[in-house]
Amino acid sequence: MPHTPARWWQHSVVYQVYPRSFCDSNGDGIGDIPGIASKLGHLQALGVDVVWLSPVYASPDDDNGYDISDYRAIAPQFGTMADFDALLAALHARGMRLVMDLVVNHTSDEHAWFQQARQSRDNPFHAFYIWAEPVDGGPPTNWASIFGGSAWEWNAATGEYFLHSFSRRQPDLNWEQPAVRQEVHAVMRFWLDKGVDGFRMDVINLVSKTWGPDGRLPNAPVTRPGFLQNGFSLTANGPRLLEFLREMRQVVLRHHDCITVGECPGITPDLARAITDADTGALDMVFQFDHMDLDSQPGQSKWQLKPLDLRDLKRSLSTWQQALADTGWNSLYFGNHDQPRVVSRFGDDGPWREASAKMLATCLHGLRGTPYVYQGDELGMTNYPFDHIGQCRDIETLNMVRDAMAQRGGDPTAVAADLMAAVRAKGRDNARTPMQWTAGPQAGFSSGTPWLAVHPNHTTINAEAALADAGSVFHHHRQLIALRRSEPALVHGRYALLWPDHATVFGYTRTLGAVQLLVVCNFSAQPVDLPLDTLDLAGAAVLSANWPLPLGLDALCHGGALHLRPYEALLLRLATG
Ligand code: GLC
Ligand code: CA
Repeated sequence: MPHTPARWWQHSVVYQVYPRSFCDSNGDGIGDIPGIASKLGHLQALGVDVVWLSPVYASPDDDNGYDISDYRAIAPQFGTMADFDALLAALHARGMRLVMDLVVNHTSDEHAWFQQARQSRDNPFHAFYIWAEPVDGGPPTNWASIFGGSAWEWNAATGEYFLHSFSRRQPDLNWEQPAVRQEVHAVMRFWLDKGVDGFRMDVINLVSKTWGPDGRLPNAPVTRPGFLQNGFSLTANGPRLLEFLREMRQVVLRHHDCITVGECPGITPDLARAITDADTGALDMVFQFDHMDLDSQPGQSKWQLKPLDLRDLKRSLSTWQQALADTGWNSLYFGNHDQPRVVSRFGDDGPWREASAKMLATCLHGLRGTPYVYQGDELGMTNYPFDHIGQCRDIETLNMVRDAMAQRGGDPTAVAADLMAAVRAKGRDNARTPMQWTAGPQAGFSSGTPWLAVHPNHTTINAEAALADAGSVFHHHRQLIALRRSEPALVHGRYALLWPDHATVFGYTRTLGAVQLLVVCNFSAQPVDLPLDTLDLAGAAVLSANWPLPLGLDALCHGGALHLRPYEALLLRLATG
């Protein structure tokens, strides 16, 4: 049993809404807050407890709202503050909570602080950002921006460079300055005082940079001579990270009953445990990325594709399950607005789409931690068949293709096939195509022209059809979400991996006292006979299944093996005693 009483977010399921792509109420092609408010019935039918809203703040939209120009204002394209207040009240009235995205590693270059900061070195806001003198007439370090090019941009008015880990329109804040941290705390209080229920903190482990002994940011180790280098080792997990987060807890968070999740690329299990330690840490959970990197070539960019080896996924998730078993807490996710669609990535978006989408949901919801469902994943939405770059909108994708083509030379309009293949597999726009509500025009998302094309498969994959079909991916998710409430072992049970070396089956147990749950997932289109060894399925209760079992579980067991059909997933409560 846990040594501290369960907090509400430990038995909650979070649903992520990407506002631009959820529901457009006024036909301008962009999803908005009134649109979200009109779809709360869908969320309630699914049974989620918490809604995480990607940014709806004022923004020039260089990175779809992750570049904020006013932390206390709603972007006009999304609606008004009154619309926001109404959404919050409506969610609360339905017993759901609301989590805001907090994007404070950087601001927009249009934020008033940066507008001031860039004017002169004497400006009081100058110290809010990270500046450095040129070195040899060029950028101060060899760091690459995550969105391509140098991480440093020249500012003529002050004769210096400023740091931007992401686009040049997203200057990094300098968290070494107490005034910056106080402003962030004030922003958090502003939203908490309105009644929001917590924060998802964007790239929060980037806020403490690793400064050199001379007070400057050093060069990153050179792994590819002549190229810009990944500065992650110096921008992520810096020496003051835990201190900054604990301060946040101390001065703001502990005064509110809220949920916090820190997005932490490159975080280690040890640091995550320290951050999520209920007694001495700061946040309730983090988003780690290890399992999102397994289908890229090791040490290379996400665009260098590699087929997933299921054993890697099992090893990775098990490491995290174990690392946070006694102290800390896991978040559980397979998708979000930055990742491709999970059914296309780890499942099969062809003939086995429904079975594999349900299998993936079972695998995720069976683990210990707080599950996050990304909008559309409850329908088994798929990657988009992008065949030319003109169909893409995401700055990361567009910059990658531009830079790669420039390096290769030749016709910049003719994007090479290998790059488009990478975009189809990994591009963030895959997750951002409009939510598929109906089989009708624009999938019922908008009466106008959507900002990003609707997937042609909305004629069959859509919420209306899914709700009407008791065997749909949606209802499978709904049942899994409901199980979390009725099965304490699903929340608290200890995790143990079974068949670690099996190439296509992911199986594990969750044990709480005398109750033992078994999750078995076939990650392949090939049927498999799984040796049961000492496991006894006699008398087991089927809590979730994605294939019909007209003759019961016994019909799947013969000769000491469990027969699994393509992408079959079972969640069982084993008989005790
Ligand atoms: C996070 C967001 C991503 C954004 C980046 C910069 O990774 O999830 O969408 O581009 O931070 O803010
Ligand atoms: Ca709109």
